[in-house]
Amino acid sequence: MAHLWRGVLREYADRLGVTEASTVVTLGEGGTPLLPAPALSQRTGADVWVKFEGMNPTGSFKDRGMTVALSRAVEHGAKAVICASTGNTSASAAAYAAHAGITAAVLVPEGKIAMGKLSQAVAHNGRLIQIRGNFDDCLEIARELADHYPVHLVNSVNPDRIEGQKTAAYEVVEVLGDAPDFHFIPVGNAGNYTAYSRGYREEVARGVATRVPRMFGFQAEGSAPLVRGEVVKNPETVASAIRIGNPASWELALEARDATDGWFGAIDDARILAAQKLLSGEVGIFVEPASAISVAGLLDRAEAGIIPAGAKVVLTVTGHGLKDPQWALRNADGSDVTPTVVDAETSEVASVLGLAPAEATA
Ligand code: F0G
Repeated sequence: MAHLWRGVLREYADRLGVTEASTVVTLGEGGTPLLPAPALSQRTGADVWVKFEGMNPTGSFKDRGMTVALSRAVEHGAKAVICASTGNTSASAAAYAAHAGITAAVLVPEGKIAMGKLSQAVAHNGRLIQIRGNFDDCLEIARELADHYPVHLVNSVNPDRIEGQKTAAYEVVEVLGDAPDFHFIPVGNAGNYTAYSRGYREEVARGVATRVPRMFGFQAEGSAPLVRGEVVKNPETVASAIRIGNPASWELALEARDATDGWFGAIDDARILAAQKLLSGEVGIFVEPASAISVAGLLDRAEAGIIPAGAKVVLTVTGHGLKDPQWALRNADGSDVTPTVVDAETSEVASVLGLAPAEATA
């Protein structure tokens, strides 16, 4: 019988402390596909699966945490929430706040978030304010506002966000029957890295997983504070979602790395874009550049000989490609992709496609 997914708070009610009396603000998040990726398995010799978080209601994994954060905020009587964002958190906060009938104020770095995400925040009636600064400046202001004014902070420094996001690890274990050997994931504030580690550790404690995967987190080369071990003052990368120089969950991430025999690596922009193209062109999954770093990270570690043949590997791809589509329309050398144009003649189209007429059947 078909099972209609009810969102993470209802699906995992017992584990997220939800009762009949709880407020639930949901747009049906979670329950995203975990897809085999034969093209990546072939390239690496591992057994590779992709957790496609772009399939959430606002197109990113943020919805898993936002349903919890907004539900708790409303339960506590909040009339307004606030967040700093590189785009996806603001899209999600605005959508869930709209659904709950409250206000979301969102602070984003001016000119540095993808157009799709900007339009989501506006479409959902977010009070969008562009800050002349970077994400780290936005987060500092959001925290100060939440400390001194009646607005409820819904960035991942709010523990409700991590609680919701850890459900993705539950889903992976449910589909695979155990945790994988390796988990690859993009890292910005390191909230999601922390969330998956927690989710997997809970699954081991419950006895439904036999192991915790080695958690491999990746940052963009120009924005890699965890790899360098110091704050990056002016982070730069095409992967605008993870353009973060001072991760909010720094300490939690180091703890999670050590507990899972994990690792943080850096990947340059060219390899991020090549991985994005590989995933869309050969696996059929279109993700934004920040998400593609999971794929680039796997290729990097496979080349380094770290991934044993047949190892079970899960890649989280965090956000949908339609949010930031411009990169797909660029060639590797930076020139624009120019689609072929012909007259409306079948024979011309056939000729461009290199098709010869099929032989007539008797
Ligand atoms: N991937 C995408 C698509 C993101 O939007 C983010 C973070 C990350 C990965 C990294 O996750 O911060 O938990 O390590 N985006 C935040 C935002 C910062 O504002 O949307 P993290």
